[in-house]
Amino acid sequence: MNSPLALAVLISGNGSNLQAIIDAIEDSRLGAEIRLVLANERDAFGLVRAARHGIATRVIDHRDYPSRAAFDAAMLDCLQPLEPDYIVLAGFMRILGADFVHAFAGRILNVHPSLLPAYKGLDTYRRALDNHETRHGVSIHLVTAELDDGPVLLQGDYPIEPGDDVESLQRKGHRLEHQMYPTLLQWLGEGRMSIDGKQIIHDRKPLSAPIRFEP
Ligand code: GRF
Repeated sequence: MNSPLALAVLISGNGSNLQAIIDAIEDSRLGAEIRLVLANERDAFGLVRAARHGIATRVIDHRDYPSRAAFDAAMLDCLQPLEPDYIVLAGFMRILGADFVHAFAGRILNVHPSLLPAYKGLDTYRRALDNHETRHGVSIHLVTAELDDGPVLLQGDYPIEPGDDVESLQRKGHRLEHQMYPTLLQWLGEGRMSIDGKQIIHDRKPLSAPIRFEP
């Protein structure tokens, strides 16, 4: 893998995971370079965060395109010349079509607020509370053309305690996400983890189950 790892980060909103990645790079905990922050929402606060750190930004608003395929093609045209090692989805709220996924096969990562395969989709904290779960968590996975599918690389979990609500679970989840994403990217950058097609190697062994994150 190149050093530093070349990243393009895709966002739709607040960008706290983006911020965690920027902070890890600036603190030398992560050897990576963010070549672009791409948002599909013009008012995504993550664009402000990127600009504050001198990182290039671009908005490609899905509403400007007649179809998902056309939107995906515009993103591909923007991203391919940058030659990113990884496309990092960090709160990017659009489903990517098969053409996009295939163009960056094995190189698109996503963070999802649940212990996949449980609670795919939206509103995971509310659904976990409604189901009286005692634990919830975070998964970082490779993106395939299916929603919140693809091999899970890293998982972290936390207890759901009496008195927890959606906001408190979200705080617990974000705290973990902000540690997990930079950690996983650093493993990829230093070759401690590698992805070749469906074969994922971690610490020289094929990955047979998600790695459990120990904060
Ligand atoms: C995160 O909680 C992530 O799990 C989900 O979207 C949220 C993005 O938050 N996919 P932020 O924009 O990084 O603050």
